[in-house]
Amino acid sequence: MKWTGLNELRESFLSFMESKGCLRHKSYPLVPQNDKSALLTIAGMAPLKPYFTGQEVPPRTRMTTCQKCIRTNDIENVGKTARHGTFFEMLGNFSFGDYFKKEAIPWAWEFFTKVLEIPEDRLYVTVYEDDDEAEKIWHEDVGLPMEKIFRFGKEDNFWEAGIDGPCGPCSEIYFDRGPEYGCGKPDCAVGCDCDRYMEVWNLVFTQFERHEDGTYTELKQKNIDTGMGLERLAAVMQGVDSIFDVDTVKAIRDHICKIAGCEYGKEYKKDVSIRVITDHIRAVTFLASDGVLPSNEGRGYVMRRLLRRAVRHGKLLGIDGLFLKDLVKTVVDCSKGEYNELEEKYEYIVKLLTNEEKNFNETIDRGMQILSGYVDEMVSSGEKILDGKKCFFLSDTYGFPIDLTREILEEKGLECDEEGYKQALAVQKETARAARGDSKYMGADETVFHKIDREYTTEFTGYERLEDESVIDFIANENELIEAAGAGEEVYIITKSTPFYAESGGQVGDKGEIFTVSGKCEVLDTFKAVGGKSVHKVKITEGAVEVGQKAELKVDRESRLATMRNHSCAHLLQSALRTVLGDHVHQAGQLVDSERLRFDFSHFSAMSLDEIQRVEMLVNSYILSALKITTQVLPIDEAKKLGAMALFGEKYGETVRVVSMGDASIEFCGGTHMDNTSKIGLFKIISESSVASGVRRIEAVTGKGVLEAMGRQIATLNEASGLLKLTNQSELVNRVRGLMEEIKALEREKSELSSAIADMRSKGLLEHTVDVKGVKLITAMFNPMKPEEIRLLAEKIRDAHPEIVCVIAGVNGKSANLCVTAGKEAVAKGVHSGKAIGKIAAITGGKGGGRPEEAMAGVGDIFKIDEALAGAEEIIGEAVK
Ligand code: ALA
Repeated sequence: MKWTGLNELRESFLSFMESKGCLRHKSYPLVPQNDKSALLTIAGMAPLKPYFTGQEVPPRTRMTTCQKCIRTNDIENVGKTARHGTFFEMLGNFSFGDYFKKEAIPWAWEFFTKVLEIPEDRLYVTVYEDDDEAEKIWHEDVGLPMEKIFRFGKEDNFWEAGIDGPCGPCSEIYFDRGPEYGCGKPDCAVGCDCDRYMEVWNLVFTQFERHEDGTYTELKQKNIDTGMGLERLAAVMQGVDSIFDVDTVKAIRDHICKIAGCEYGKEYKKDVSIRVITDHIRAVTFLASDGVLPSNEGRGYVMRRLLRRAVRHGKLLGIDGLFLKDLVKTVVDCSKGEYNELEEKYEYIVKLLTNEEKNFNETIDRGMQILSGYVDEMVSSGEKILDGKKCFFLSDTYGFPIDLTREILEEKGLECDEEGYKQALAVQKETARAARGDSKYMGADETVFHKIDREYTTEFTGYERLEDESVIDFIANENELIEAAGAGEEVYIITKSTPFYAESGGQVGDKGEIFTVSGKCEVLDTFKAVGGKSVHKVKITEGAVEVGQKAELKVDRESRLATMRNHSCAHLLQSALRTVLGDHVHQAGQLVDSERLRFDFSHFSAMSLDEIQRVEMLVNSYILSALKITTQVLPIDEAKKLGAMALFGEKYGETVRVVSMGDASIEFCGGTHMDNTSKIGLFKIISESSVASGVRRIEAVTGKGVLEAMGRQIATLNEASGLLKLTNQSELVNRVRGLMEEIKALEREKSELSSAIADMRSKGLLEHTVDVKGVKLITAMFNPMKPEEIRLLAEKIRDAHPEIVCVIAGVNGKSANLCVTAGKEAVAKGVHSGKAIGKIAAITGGKGGGRPEEAMAGVGDIFKIDEALAGAEEIIGEAVK
C-alpha cells in the first residue's frame, strides 16, 4: 500500500467517483438547512435527504461528496480512547434512483484494490442476513470467496436514523489490521470487538422507507448512500494506529504538544487532554467557519461545550494564557485546500474563538469564587458532600465544568453529590427535550405544496417589473389544492410567473394586488415553498378567482421601493462596518422591510459613538456619490474571484447572483435593489445593541424613513420645550442641566431630613427597650415607610447600643418589609439576625434572611405584622445563650 496523505486521499476518492459519472459537490455546511431533525450534519447523506425521498430534484442523479460532519453522541469518550472523535469528514457516493448494488459494490472494490492498491487478502465484507442479491454480487461479480463474506443481522447491517425516513440494508467493508491487533481468541473474526478488523466503508442500499409505526414500504426509487470516514481510511493507508496519527490530524496534535511542552504517548492523562483538544479545535474551527456562534442552546451550545472542554484540557496540560488562536492556524492550514471558507474567515474565526476563550477564563474565575464560598460554608459546618443542585447551578448558570468542581472538592477532602447532580441534569435535559419537540427524520414537514409536481417552479420577473401578467396554476388552502375561492377567503395562489418577491435573504415578501376577470385579491405576503415555488398568500376581496384564469399582478410600489432602499443600504452598511471596524465583520442576519433595516453582524464589543458616526458618514458618502448598482449572474468561482462577500454556511448553487455598488460593495444576493445608491436618499442609524455574544445589531432607516425619524425627534424636542415653557429651543440643554442640579440639591436635603427623622425616631424607640435575657429588644411598625428607610432606622438603632436587637416593620403601599439588626454584644450572645428574621417573617407567611448583624425580609400577610412583632420576643429569647 502506498502511503497517501489525507488531502490526496480525498481527491483520489472524489475524482474516482467523478469518473463514474457522479457530480462532485462541495461539502454542504455543518448547519442543516430546512431540516429540523438534527442540530448538525451527521452524515454525507443528511443534506441530500429530499433527493432520496424524491421530494426535490437533485442536480444529477448520481453525486459524490466529502462532507464535514460532527457527531456528539460519544463526546464523553472523546480523549479517553484514540477511537472517538466528534469532527470527521465523510466520503460518499450517492444514487437517487440511478445506479444500485450492481454498480456500487464493484466500484467500492475497484477503488480499494485498484486505485488505493489495498491488498485483497486484507479485505472482508459483511452483508445483511436476507440480502442474497448483495452476497451474490460480492461472490460472483467481484469474485470474493464465500468465506470472506459474513452475514449479519439488523443490528449491524441495516442503516436507519430516527423513527421514520429512508433506510435500507447495508454492506460493510472491513480492513484486517493484522493479528498483532487481535485479541488472540480462536474465534476472533470480522465482527469481533477487538481492534483487529476495522470497519472502513458502509454501503447502504436505501430502498425502504420506515414509518413511525415501525413498518417498512419500498421506496419508489432505489438509492445508494455510502459513507466512509476519511480520517479512518487515512489511518489504514498510512499504517498508523488511530486517527490522531494521521498526517493532518497529527499536525494539530504536535502543535498542542509544542505549546504545552509535552510529548504524546508518554502519559495517559496527558494523552487524553491532547486528544480532546485536537478533536475539539477542529470541530469549533469548522463550526465557526459555517457561522455557528457559541450560545446556551442548540448547536451554539454544542460549540460552546466543545470549546470549553478544549480550554479546560489546555489548563490541565498547564498551558497558560490564550492558546486556541495558534491552533486554529494549523487547522486552517491543513484543510484550506478543500474548505476555502476556513481561509476566507480566518481572521473572524480567530476573533470569535479567542473572545469565547477569554469569556470562559473569566467564567472560571467567577465560578471559583462561588465554589470557594461553598467550600468555606462546608468547612465551617462540617459538611462533606456538596449539594448536587449547587454543583449543577455552577455548571448550568456559570458554565463552570462539573469535573473542575469535583477536582477542587477532592483537593479539600470533600465530594460532590453525584446523585443530586444527575437528577438536576436530567430535569434540565427533559425540559430542553420538551422545548425542542419531537421532530421527524425528514425534518421538513409535508405541506400542501408537496402535492404539486416537484419539478414545477415559478419564474420571478420582479427584478425588472412591478406589474406583470400570468396565469393562476394552483390555488390551495391549508390542506388541499382547490379549484376556486371566493370573497372573504384567505388562500394561497401560485402563478406561472410573478413580479412578487418571495421572502428570502432577510428581505420580506412583497404585498400588493392580483386581479382576474372575475375577482380581486389582496396579497398579504409572498413566500417560497418546497422546490422553488413562489406562493402568494392572499385574501379574496371581491368576486372569485379560479385555476386557469389569467391574472394581473401588481406589487405595492411604495412599499417595495422603500424595501429596496433599505436592502441596498444594508450592503453599503456592511461595507462601511468592515472599513471602520475591520474584516472580522460578517453579516450574521438581516431583516429588511419597508420601514427599516436591521443588520446583525459579528463584532466583539459595543460600537463607540465615534465609530457609529463614522459608519453613518461613510454610508451617506456612498449614497451621495451616486454609485451605479448592477447585478450579474456568474459561476460561483468567478464571483468569488471578484471578491464578492458570501453568507456564512449558506448553500449556494453552481451560479450565483452578484450585486455590485461601484467600488463600495460586492455581495452574493438574490434580493431586489435600487439602480443607483443616490436613490437611497439618506441613511440614519437608530440604534446599536447586542444580540448574542459576539453579535451586534444595527437598526437604521433610509429615504423617507429618515425624515419620519427626524420628525419624531423634533416633535419630542418641541414637547419638552413646551413643558419647560421655553420660547427659545436652544436653551433646552441648559435648562435640563439646571433642573438636574436642582433635583440633586433636593435629594441631598431629603436624605439629611430622613436621617434627622430616623435619629428622632431611634431616640424615641431606644427609650422603650424590653430586656430579653440580657439583650435589649426593640420592636416597632411604621406606615408608611420605604424599605431603605426601615434599613436606615434599624441600623441607627443597632449602632446606638451593642446589646440592641431591633425588629422593624414598614408598610409601603400594599406590601411591607421587615428588618432585623443586632449589635455586637447581642450577636456574641447568640442572636443571628438572618436566622431570626426567617422565623419572624414566617409568622406572616413571608421569607428572608441575611447576615448575623443585619437582615431583610418581605412580609406575607400585612395584617399579621403585629402578631409577628409580638412573636419576636420569644424567638430572640430562644437564640440568646
Ligand atoms: N449514511 C451511512 C452512514 O452514515 C452511509 O454510515
